[in-house]
Amino acid sequence: MDLEECIKGRRSIRLYKDKDVEWEKVVKILDAGNYAPSSGNIQNWEFILVKDSKNVEKVANSCYNQSFVIEAPLIFIICAEISKIRRLYGEKGEKVYSIQNCAMASQNIMLMAYSLGLGSCFVGAFDEDTLKEDFNIPDNIQVMGIITLGYSNEGDLEVRRQDLEICTFYEKYNNTLRNIKTFPLNNMLKKRLKDIKTRKKSFT
Ligand SMILES: Cc1cc2nc3c(=O)[nH]c(=O)nc-3n(C[C@H](O)[C@H](O)[C@H](O)COP(=O)(O)O)c2cc1C
Repeated sequence: MDLEECIKGRRSIRLYKDKDVEWEKVVKILDAGNYAPSSGNIQNWEFILVKDSKNVEKVANSCYNQSFVIEAPLIFIICAEISKIRRLYGEKGEKVYSIQNCAMASQNIMLMAYSLGLGSCFVGAFDEDTLKEDFNIPDNIQVMGIITLGYSNEGDLEVRRQDLEICTFYEKYNNTLRNIKTFPLNNMLKKRLKDIKTRKKSFT
């Protein structure tokens, strides 16, 4: 699958077929997560795979009963080991880099899943204390997120994204005025926007 198609075609999937994810695919997905960039190449992510229905139920309960979680054939709990990153980078490491690293790994996971024909959803609304207790997660480990995985049973899902022009500034924050010579890119952005709108249907 083409990278652009993968990035734009991925949607959060909250309805799954009753079908297991093949282990060959799971390994590829984990590997993609593990190949993410990280601060100082510290790779401080850890993944807990959850499949047993009783444990899946526990995860769902910790996600404030987001009912779709319980239907997921497979769940990854994305964890961050924080002692090494704290030692190397102090508070910034713990409060920022650690989250950034796991976000990079999570996106890799979801894109690889999509490229292998699977759906996924990142779940950030969870009670960390409950998860830590239920899954024996020690103090030096932070839970960064949950990713549900499985074969999608959703129909077409709408894509809603702001126009690039809204979130792109030139040289200074909030400056939307462009110098055409310095930023011929801006014209290209506009052209891309048109292209994307025209092709949007094929990505949904
Ligand atoms: C940090 C983060 C936390 C999220 N938390 C939840 C969540 O708790 N429950 C949920 O159903 N979706 C959650 N999502 C998924 C978003 O709702 C979804 O990515 C967004 O609506 C855009 O839709 P798309 O992923 O289909 O493009 C989360 C996504 C991110 C990045």
